[in-house]
Amino acid sequence: MNRLHTLSPPVPNTNRQRLYILLDETAMRTELANHYDLTPSLACAEELADIYAKMDRVISPPDWAIYAPYVKAILALKKQRNAVILAHNYMTPEIYHGIADVVGDSLQLAIKATEVEADVIVQCGVHFMAETSKILNPSKTVLIPDMDAGCSLAESITAEGIAEMRAKYPGAPVVTYVNTTAEVKAASDICCTSSNAAQIVAAQDSDTVIMTPDQYLAQNVAKEVPNKRVVWWAGSCIVHEQYTAKDLREYRDWNPGTRIIAHPECPPDVIAEADFSGSTSGIIDYVHRERPEKAMLVTECSMAANISDELPDVDFVGPCNMCPYMKKITLEKVLWSLHSMQGAVEVDPEIAAQARVAVERMIDLSRRLAV
Ligand code: 13P
Ligand code: SF4
Repeated sequence: MNRLHTLSPPVPNTNRQRLYILLDETAMRTELANHYDLTPSLACAEELADIYAKMDRVISPPDWAIYAPYVKAILALKKQRNAVILAHNYMTPEIYHGIADVVGDSLQLAIKATEVEADVIVQCGVHFMAETSKILNPSKTVLIPDMDAGCSLAESITAEGIAEMRAKYPGAPVVTYVNTTAEVKAASDICCTSSNAAQIVAAQDSDTVIMTPDQYLAQNVAKEVPNKRVVWWAGSCIVHEQYTAKDLREYRDWNPGTRIIAHPECPPDVIAEADFSGSTSGIIDYVHRERPEKAMLVTECSMAANISDELPDVDFVGPCNMCPYMKKITLEKVLWSLHSMQGAVEVDPEIAAQARVAVERMIDLSRRLAV
């Protein structure tokens, strides 16, 4: 099986394993160095100055001299392979601005995946996003640069968990967040993302609606849709569950006038403390529209970094949390996946067909509701 994770397994627990990874990474680097000029280069940095201009407030010139040769090699290889790069808003700026063809939140990336004409999709994001692209595009090669780019929500539930919820709430429809495996999607009635969850729940023809696997998204949706009884699975996002309402209040007291903007994977008391809540693209649109003097993005750290150059008048303040899964995707691994064509995501065709129903229902309903 072509699984890149043999090159970078999660946490090595023995010296032998550590040595093995080191050897494999060394082999990958040797192979890349044999094919591409990847030495830091001021000339290459200068050649790609237009691209650098989109992120020069957040990436230093010496760092750009390191990244530029990788960006150049990836852009050339992308053409050769007839590949398209779909990148989530949490990717680092050198990926988001340097090599992506499309950037967006989970819903936008899923919709874009239905429109791809290229032969190869490189998913710069986490595994469930690549799986969603594959489900929607079974005939394409979908590559993920690191198979271990997981998600705490996707890991929190299995198809058996969905069956458990159905047994507990007979007849209630199951609305499942896209942050799940194909098996879980296949066992669900319809998917949702953070940008359409409330509308999808409101549209269900039932008083009780099961939401999985994010307890906080479900609780936030329940407040928005008070005429439904929303019941949930107890999963959570390790990035957003760390924020507390007390932290936000203290930050606001310390730095008055800060606009606080939070992702709906945060606990409900955090959302109550925020001035706005929305999907990652909803957050970006809000900051563009409102242009607050000071903004605290209660979400993943790359969000503020990616829009800093577009919004020089906005001061992005406050702490942020890093998603360790999203951060597994690097320029080096993207180059390796396009070079080696390793890291292809496969989904069992029967599971994919069932999961496609749940994802397509979501996309169709979103279009009809114009979310
Ligand atoms: P969005 O759909 O808002 O981009 O969220 C995806 C995600 O994983 C947030 O943690
Ligand atoms: Fe999953 Fe949270 Fe990372 Fe998003 S930020 S990919 S929900 S762990």
